[in-house]
This record gives sequence, C-alpha cells and structure tokens, in this order.
Amino acid sequence: MKIAIIGAGIIGSAIAKSLIKKKCGEKIIATRRKVEKLTELKALGAEVTRDNKYAAREGDVIILTVKPRDVKSVLKEIRSEIAGKLVISLAAAVPLQFLKSIAPEARFVRAMPNIAVLVQESFTAYCVGPEITEEDKETVKKIFGSMGKYVEVEEKDMDAITGLSGSGPAYIAILIEALKYAGLKVGLSRDIALLASAQTVLGTGKLIMETKMHSSELKDMVVTPAGTTIEGIYEIEESGIRSAIMRAVEAATRKSKQITESIKNG
Ligand SMILES: NC(=O)c1ccc[n+]([C@@H]2O[C@H](COP(=O)([O-])OP(=O)(O)OC[C@H]3O[C@@H](n4cnc5c(N)ncnc54)[C@H](OP(=O)(O)O)[C@@H]3O)[C@@H](O)[C@H]2O)c1
Repeated sequence: MKIAIIGAGIIGSAIAKSLIKKKCGEKIIATRRKVEKLTELKALGAEVTRDNKYAAREGDVIILTVKPRDVKSVLKEIRSEIAGKLVISLAAAVPLQFLKSIAPEARFVRAMPNIAVLVQESFTAYCVGPEITEEDKETVKKIFGSMGKYVEVEEKDMDAITGLSGSGPAYIAILIEALKYAGLKVGLSRDIALLASAQTVLGTGKLIMETKMHSSELKDMVVTPAGTTIEGIYEIEESGIRSAIMRAVEAATRKSKQITESIKNG
C-alpha cells in the first residue's frame, strides 16, 4: 500500500513519521508547496514533492491534511487522480457531503486525530461515507491503528470530537504547564517539576484506561482524611475548573459547527 499525504504540515508530517516508524505502507509520499520544509521526512525515507497530482496518482490511499479553506482547491486539482480511490480527509469541520460534491468518484473517510500521533498515541475518531467498502474499513483501521487508538463514530459527532480530543492536547498542555509552575512555586527545580507534572498526567490516563477504574474511585484512592490531597482538592473545587473545561470543549465544538456552516454556504 502506497500512502500519499497531501499537505504535510504539522499533522500530515506527524502522521507520515508515525506511518514510517510503524512500517505501515510500503511507500509514503508527502506533498506541500514549501517542500524544502520536508527534509526531515525525506531523511526518514518518505518521497517528498510539490506535485499533488503525482502523489495522488502514485498513492493507493490518499490522506488529505490541508487546512479546511484549502480542501476545495486541492481536491479539484487531484480529482481525476483520486477517482476510485480511498481518501481520508483530516480537515476539521469539512463534511463528507462537501468532499463528495467536489470529487464524486472518490471514496471518503473523514477523521479527526490529534497531535499525539507524533508518539503513536493519537485518539482518532472517524466516520465513513456510504460508498466505503469493508476492505476500505480494514485499511483505515490499519492506518489509524498505527497512529494510536481509534473509534468509528457517526458524522454528527465529529464537531464534538474536534472540540474534545482534536483540541484536547492543547488543554492538557495548559494543565501540565500549570502543574509545572505550581511545582516551581513550591520550590522544585524546572526539570523535576515538568517530569512530575507530565508523568502524573500520563500515568493517570493510563491507570484509567487499563484498570477501567472510575475517575472518582481513583480520586478517592488518593485522598486520606485530613491529609494533603483533600487540601488541594478543596482549592480546585472552588476554582470552577470543571466548568471552565466544559465551556472550552463546548466553545471549540461550536466553532467547528460554525466552520462547517460557512463551508456549506460557500
Ligand atoms: N494540528 C493538529 O493538531 C490537527 C489535529 C487534527 C486535525 N487537524 C487538521 O489537519 C489539517 C492541517 O492542520 P495542520 O495543523 O497540520 O496545519 P498546517 O501545519 O498548516 O498544514 C497544512 C499544510 O498544507 C500545506 N498546503 C497548503 N496548500 C497546499 C497545496 N495547495 N498543496 C499542497 N500542500 C498545501 C501547507 O504547506 P505549504 O504552505 O508549504 O504548501 C501546510 O503545511 C487541518 O485541516 C486541521 O483541521 C489538525
């Protein structure tokens, strides 16, 4: 399977690196206009080019990673090359129907990974068009499986996924930064404060994933009566952090919906 990545910027390059690392696909072809920025990918073994048509012609599967505003022009450019092929679009807020209206002969999957694909720990949600075959689904699972965890959802859920896990690494980065600065405030060195913060987030996520433990059960395991943790929790609960996070996801979801509407209205 040859995989063409059209628009290899931040997420496209991260996916290319992940596919190469996991040996998913016999050949990776990556495109962007400023092709000189793809030297690292080239050194890793990808073919890099400015020529979208060539890449689309060569690829058995096409992964489209341009910004939402560029999807229309790029799809028009490669339309004849992607006829009869599986195309995975990662463009936030761009609906399957819109993709299909531009290149009706291609078979589309719409997906939302996140930047943790760089360490093969993405959460990727995807939805499929009615023309997608069982074989396509297997191909898609192989690709997304090499990037981390994945789940198929209905298209109506894609805006919420964008607001939660697509944007999520940015929210968690803020949390880690806050923990790190808290560590500095209570006298830890920078290195130890960062390691303690990031590893605590990683370990807590892993604990919940692997034990299927409820988050409140986990919290209870750390709290002892009149101990240190309850002092911290008391401050957190007063801060409104829960509703701030809920509002953040809601706002990002709303924005994704707005972009969808503006795309639909041309
Ligand atoms: N970043 C994330 O965490 C993330 C997560 C999930 C989904 N996404 C989605 O992924 C898409 C890309 O996001 P990004 O953050 O990776 O943006 P980005 O870094 O700007 O990547 C987009 C790339 O497309 C290239 N491009 C633009 N026009 C092109 C053309 N005509 N032909 C070939 N390449 C072209 C640009 O490079 P040149 O200017 O050199 O051509 C740019 O590097 C977006 O639709 C976004 O919604 C991003």
